[in-house]
Amino acid sequence: MTEKLRLAVFISGGGTNLQAIIDNCKKSDFPARVVVVVSNKPGVYGLERAREAGIPTEVVSHRDFPERAAHEAEIVRRIRRYEVELVVLAGYMRVVTNTLLSAFYDSKRCLPGVINIHPADTRAYQGAHGYEFALGILPDHPERLTETKITVHFVDDGVDTGPVIMQAAVPVQANDGIDDLRARGLDVEHRIYPEAIRLYAEGKISIGCNQVEIET
Ligand code: GRF
Repeated sequence: MTEKLRLAVFISGGGTNLQAIIDNCKKSDFPARVVVVVSNKPGVYGLERAREAGIPTEVVSHRDFPERAAHEAEIVRRIRRYEVELVVLAGYMRVVTNTLLSAFYDSKRCLPGVINIHPADTRAYQGAHGYEFALGILPDHPERLTETKITVHFVDDGVDTGPVIMQAAVPVQANDGIDDLRARGLDVEHRIYPEAIRLYAEGKISIGCNQVEIET
């Protein structure tokens, strides 16, 4: 196999998606590997998962910076030496800015270099409570859905607004509470996020460069 795609996984919490990615990367035919795990929160369990897997970690607390761009600039500076090719947000609870996005734009593939997983259809719900949205337990969304659509998408400078790469439906069952739906949803997340990373690494995803061409 040719060189494996070099991933940085960004987390803010427990990191079950990180674990699924790490586990997939152990397979000899998986075309990517995690070269660094970045957290904006010290002490989270995802960092422990990285250490157990022998993966370097970089903790850069957003609290130490007056604004998002400065925080991201420090992350970019800290991880430069890992030669990251794709940034994988996995429960990273920060809205990212162009400082990060432009640092990782993949000009070889003409693709954004940052992806995210979201527990809802990003066209229907943006934000941190996708499973609650599906259950209709958010104050401004009291309708219960019949399913939630886990979404893997490219990240742009909006909140969950980037181009969709892959979606998978998870039915909302009659007796589901938040823990039930989240548990079944996470099982699906753990399957499709590595799948999307594989497709990216294999060069099977393209969205075009939006270049203006002028015939002369
Ligand atoms: C997942 O539900 C993911 O879709 C969302 O944040 C959660 C992270 O969970 N963006 P974990 O830290 O990977 O367990």
